[in-house]
Amino acid sequence: MNEQDKQIILNGSPVPLNGEHRITLADFVRERGATSVHLGCEHGVCGACNVLVDGSCTRACLALAHGCAGSSVTTLDGLQDELAQRLRKAFNAHHALQCGFCTPGMFVSAYDMLACGEPLDEARVRERLAGNICRCTGYQGIVDAILSVANPHAPAAAGHAHHHPHSEEVHS
Ligand code: FES
Ligand code: FES
Repeated sequence: MNEQDKQIILNGSPVPLNGEHRITLADFVRERGATSVHLGCEHGVCGACNVLVDGSCTRACLALAHGCAGSSVTTLDGLQDELAQRLRKAFNAHHALQCGFCTPGMFVSAYDMLACGEPLDEARVRERLAGNICRCTGYQGIVDAILSVANPHAPAAAGHAHHHPHSEEVHS
């Protein structure tokens, strides 16, 4: 086993893997400070724990940390490029979150679909978000936010970017 195989690169920083061979990736990264990775269902249904593993959207509650040895794991906090900044602004502008529990996983899914570069319309965005559950927003603000980044020159959907007094903001 070489050095690479004994660590995970978490948001750009190497983190050594310890001896707990059965720890999930979600528990592992949360114990190392990446608490934006949320645990909802813990069996692969809600998407709150989504992270990128070597660029692929992954349920961190289903993956074993040791199975990701040598890989780069990126959480919401590690997404800081220009696309992520545009998406953060769009989430805030379209009030794509309320309690914020689903948001880190939702954001990772949204980033992943935008980074793929496939053409996106409302139906496709909703299809790609089918693995992310939000109990608050009704999804429309999330869909609008993603579409506004995917198609920045399209006219905004009427009435969707309204003020919501109880909305949180996407930080970091
Ligand atoms: Fe991983 Fe729900 S906590 S999918
Ligand atoms: Fe509350 Fe999605 S679960 S904002």
